[in-house]
Amino acid sequence: MKKFKYSEITPEKIYNNRRTFLKNLGYGIGGIAFANNALANTDLSKPTSYKDITTYNNYYEFGTSKGDPYKKSQDFKTRPWTVRIEGEVEEPIDLPIDEILNSFPSEERVQRLRCVEGWSMIIPWMGFSLSELLNKVKIKPEAKFVKFESVYDPENMVGQRRAVLNWPYVEGLRLDEAMHPLTTVVTGLYGKPLPNQNGAPLRIFIPWKYGFKSGKAIVKIELVKKMPMTAWMWASPREYGFYSNVNPNVNHPRWSQATERVINGEVFSPRVKTLMFNGYGDEVAHLYTGMDLKKNF
Ligand code: MTE
Repeated sequence: MKKFKYSEITPEKIYNNRRTFLKNLGYGIGGIAFANNALANTDLSKPTSYKDITTYNNYYEFGTSKGDPYKKSQDFKTRPWTVRIEGEVEEPIDLPIDEILNSFPSEERVQRLRCVEGWSMIIPWMGFSLSELLNKVKIKPEAKFVKFESVYDPENMVGQRRAVLNWPYVEGLRLDEAMHPLTTVVTGLYGKPLPNQNGAPLRIFIPWKYGFKSGKAIVKIELVKKMPMTAWMWASPREYGFYSNVNPNVNHPRWSQATERVINGEVFSPRVKTLMFNGYGDEVAHLYTGMDLKKNF
């Protein structure tokens, strides 16, 4: 399988900006991983364009149409911003966003996003493993799940003025899923700071799960004993399960999940077969040994 080389596809301007960005954030060039483990199983050789990744979004806080987040999030302020880690921990902490960006070097992580709606993108995120951030606190043995809370700010997020979801947006993972090295804290995109519409200043990304598990604009991470209720489970438990691992054999009640449309700038995007765990099975299947993934969808 061809390995993706960043310099081959990145327009020169973005590539140069990226170097400046990395320098500004104190990211060591030597520390950038041009590839990660998942490349072995997933063809990530043709990333989706920056334009598509930043103009075709799901972010209901800014509206329910794909173009809304780009159009309506540009004035959203992501400074000052604090991420709180609390719950079943020895001592809760409040981390200012710039401290997070400076103390955890981001690397390039080219990962596939598979949306539950039946499309996918290959995205060159910048980020680091969530486990590194969680290691900032001492987690109590009682903690079994991690709950992610996105920001609640109806004054500045027009979509939150309507009850389309039970705000704030909440998602969750089992603790071992959260600690898996592929579970990513996203800080940038194409070597540049994360655009508002993609979840600035910080979002979570779990490449083997449907895109809705990846909460944007995170303000709180809570270690909890019980499986948290998520925004989508609350909206429609029959359609959205807690695990939501990408699984071509479990259809959404209203449509098939067997194939996906790869968004790559073509008028007619190719449809490809959806892969179990989105192609990351070698890395993550062991987390679900003995579990019925049809029941635990
Ligand atoms: N996070 C918040 N806070 N609000 C949202 O509406 N949408 C989710 C997820 N995270 C969403 C969110 C869905 S359905 C998807 S597919 C991805 O974000 C889309 O991420 P992208 O716009 O960066 O491609």
